[in-house]
Amino acid sequence: MELELREVDDLVLEQLRTAVLLPPEQAEYVGGSVDDALHEAATYPEAKPWPRGVFVDGFPVGFVMLSWDVRPDPPDPALVGPWFLWKLMISRDHQGRGYGRAVVAAVAEIVHAQGGTELLTSYGEGPGDPSGFYVSVGFVPTGERHEGEVLARLDLGG
Ligand SMILES: CC(C)(COP(=O)(O)OP(=O)(O)OC[C@H]1O[C@@H](n2cnc3c(N)ncnc32)[C@H](O)[C@@H]1OP(=O)(O)O)[C@@H](O)C(=O)NCCC(=O)NCCS
Repeated sequence: MELELREVDDLVLEQLRTAVLLPPEQAEYVGGSVDDALHEAATYPEAKPWPRGVFVDGFPVGFVMLSWDVRPDPPDPALVGPWFLWKLMISRDHQGRGYGRAVVAAVAEIVHAQGGTELLTSYGEGPGDPSGFYVSVGFVPTGERHEGEVLARLDLGG
């Protein structure tokens, strides 16, 4: 499998719009569609969004967005960082094939190469929530919450 994280230009966005579809009960956990995620990115530039299309063997299968090295001065409790896995979605027809795990591994490697020692994320709880996925790929709940969601941490080593 060849996994690529592509910058979201007009062509990639068009591909993601038609290819990345979630059932409604999952979409609520990620806050909607790729367009909704990009709208959030435009609304919160201070969160330094880093959006990428997920392609496997050349086909669009998902979307990921990080907060990229966020270090507000003075500290801002609304911003989690410096490295935050803000959005992750794998299209319904492509789930369960290890792509989500591969994206987490790829972004962990990218963040580690930038000197990051941990990747944070947060998720809502309820039927069909992604908690099992995050635990399976190595995230550990910190015991804190962010905007009502469970905050979890992936150790990237020193
Ligand atoms: C959560 C999500 C990204 C997982 O992607 P995926 O490609 O299906 O996950 P993978 O196939 O890589 O699964 C990796 C592991 O997590 C497990 N897993 C995946 N989804 C799970 C779930 N909902 N509950 C429990 N375990 C889960 C898999 O069984 C697998 O375990 P294994 O390797 O031991 O067999 C995908 O289901 C999704 O996009 N969901 C909707 C959006 C969302 O909730 N995003 C996260 C919040 S921002």
